[in-house]
Amino acid sequence: MEINTMLKALQDPMGIPFYPVVFQVLMVLTFALHIMFVNFTLGTSFLSVYGYLKGGENWGRLSRSLAKAATVNISMAMLLGVAPLLFVQVVYDPFWYASNTLSAAWVMGFIFIMMLGYSLTYVFYLKRDSREHHTISPLNKGGIKGGFGIVAFVLFLLSGIIMHALGYQLLQPEKWLQWYVRGNSVDTSGISLHAFQLPRFLHFIIPSFAMTGIFLMLYAWYFKNRTDFDKGYLEWVGRTGAKMAFTFTAIQAIVGFWWLFSLPGGFNFFTNPFFLIGAALGIALLVFLYNAQKDPVKYAVPGILGAFLTIFGMSYAREALRMKYLGRFDYSIFTYKLNIDWGSTALFLATFVMGLSIIGYLLSVAYKSGRVTGEYAATHSMNKWGKISIALLLIWIVVVAGLGVIISVRNYL
Ligand code: HEM
Repeated sequence: MEINTMLKALQDPMGIPFYPVVFQVLMVLTFALHIMFVNFTLGTSFLSVYGYLKGGENWGRLSRSLAKAATVNISMAMLLGVAPLLFVQVVYDPFWYASNTLSAAWVMGFIFIMMLGYSLTYVFYLKRDSREHHTISPLNKGGIKGGFGIVAFVLFLLSGIIMHALGYQLLQPEKWLQWYVRGNSVDTSGISLHAFQLPRFLHFIIPSFAMTGIFLMLYAWYFKNRTDFDKGYLEWVGRTGAKMAFTFTAIQAIVGFWWLFSLPGGFNFFTNPFFLIGAALGIALLVFLYNAQKDPVKYAVPGILGAFLTIFGMSYAREALRMKYLGRFDYSIFTYKLNIDWGSTALFLATFVMGLSIIGYLLSVAYKSGRVTGEYAATHSMNKWGKISIALLLIWIVVVAGLGVIISVRNYL
């Protein structure tokens, strides 16, 4: 069977429930959010261990904050990974499932790797502070505790390698058969990762240090009005962040060109408008971060907005590249059979809007409470927003569970 025909045969015969462009935009948007938090996770977990092992007043204090931040960042990275996972399964199902099946052991192992990495991040965060209260024993407990953080970081990197391999194998259906056969027999073990492209992988990992630089600039900006924070310390954090952000964005630009030149020549990707927009945003960000060295606190908020815009542009370029790879087999998500289902689409959009409101409330509380020195007292409108959020959640649970029960009962009748 020809590859083109095989790919069509692997599509869901029911078709997809809404216009593919909507899925694509949401997939790219949520991937951009996912990868931003992946970057924060890798950067904050690395720096928290680095600061812990380096020691000293400033690094010790920053390391403690970053260890806490890492626990939140990893939760966000996982949460925001689920959304592109669902979208990619809808529009690229023949590719995603084939790639997952070829490395099935890694896909299942991924869950355990994440669980272990997540747990060790907490162990490092909770255990590390006992170093300040007790003298370090000859067994060098400090180093052992740092080990938890190091292993967590390595596990997160491994998770990235798995995700990268799945995403890259997906692009090469012409090689699936050769990966599926070992010697004279079929290899159904799923224990191999078959494809890895270093510049592509680094393009997603190097920004961890640039983004964490911006994270530090935001830290200095966020705590600047708190009387319990030392001005000199915050200035040091801001300056360190701005320097990191600029240096690693410059390295990232070089890696970006390395990736570009390693792409198949026939793609002519350097003329692709999505790539050009992404690259222009990247260069603009670099210039912006150069200027930010003067006053990191002032540049922090526009910095994160600009960085996210760049990541979004680059994520769209990544999607345009996928369309190029798969276009070789005349595959386009825009020709997927449409079977519009208004009910599930409406439920999905309502959930999305409701989720935004609830997350908005949680973020506002976290933001406001961290900015005041003493205890945070919520205003009347904040309390009202909280109550509405709880009501919305209850209504949502009733509607979704109710629909589930009704549909299940109907199916059995
Ligand atoms: C710290 C842990 C993680 C790291 C370091 C990581 C890293 C990455 C990287 C580097 C990519 C891009 C790969 C490429 O295109 O070459 C990626 C894609 C992806 N990640 Fe993660 N990831 C992590 C956790 C997760 C989790 C927990 C989920 C799901 C719940 C997830 C879902 C996805 C999906 C679905 C894609 C591909 C989306 C697409 O092809 O459009 N990731 N991840």
